[in-house]
Amino acid sequence: MESPFKADVLKGKVALLTGGASGIGLEISTQFGKHGASVALMGRRKNVLDSAVDVLQSLGIRAIGLEGDVRKQEDATRVVDSTIKHFGRLDILVNAAAGNFLVEPENLSPNGFRTVMDIDSVGTFTMCHEALKYLKKGGPGKGPSCCGIILNISATLHYTASWYQIHVSAAKAAVDSITRSLALEWGTDYDIRVNGIAPGPISDTAGMSKLLPEEMRSSREHTPLFKFGEKWDIAMAAVYLASDAGKFVNGTTVVVDGGQWLSHPRR
Ligand code: HXC
Repeated sequence: MESPFKADVLKGKVALLTGGASGIGLEISTQFGKHGASVALMGRRKNVLDSAVDVLQSLGIRAIGLEGDVRKQEDATRVVDSTIKHFGRLDILVNAAAGNFLVEPENLSPNGFRTVMDIDSVGTFTMCHEALKYLKKGGPGKGPSCCGIILNISATLHYTASWYQIHVSAAKAAVDSITRSLALEWGTDYDIRVNGIAPGPISDTAGMSKLLPEEMRSSREHTPLFKFGEKWDIAMAAVYLASDAGKFVNGTTVVVDGGQWLSHPRR
């Protein structure tokens, strides 16, 4: 689908995206590239990174893949530094890496709970922490009033309660809290805008195939607009928030779910 935004709204910007080589993250990488940004993709799997970079480069997008696990601080530091070494600056950090599986609380080990917290919540904070010196005003390529952007990919699970996702709900609640705290403190101190996006059911994603049982996919309750979202819908929200169109938006998590979370949680 054609973008409603001008093709140069992110011209000259450099974005680093965790989880940027697959699913929603890859579509955000693609749309950022199509709107003028250069993109660095961080992920754990080299083959996935390589094929994503091939696709992006075939579209004329400046892209690199950097192996790393957001749970390891040394990986975060190395990946951020490599992005600067390659592109000379960092303007946008997207935290899209996430772990997920369905499990009843009684069958989830504390280590399983911790694993998802580590990827989603601690990983998000770690990446923000390591990227700060490049995102803040006065960082490479930035003037005294020029701001970096952070986008955290969240969910709506924790607005109510969601079956079999106690770990992810807790992790995404923490992500939203990180979004607000950094928006307040880093907005004030460093001119960095920090926002989130909470996707609903999005076609052709791991989240959809793993989390939404087949029988629920056609119910009105689960799709108030009678359709699922597309990865494109999330990427357009990301372009909006990362561009000057969103220059006064700070500390919010934009829900892009067609109204799905308004329905009651169902087993
Ligand atoms: C119960 C599980 C489990 C499962 C892992 N664990 N999978 N417990 N059911 N299906 C437990 C393990 O038993 C272990 O605890 C602990 O978690 C760590 O597991 P590992 O396999 O050693 O960890 P790791 O290899 O690091 O993998 C972590 C992972 C990850 C979270 C399982 O690989 C993963 O989920 N990958 C998929 C990524 C993905 O689908 N991303 C899209 C997310 S969609 P013990 O106690 O045994 O040591 C999304 C949408 C959000 O985020 C919301 C949408 C509505």
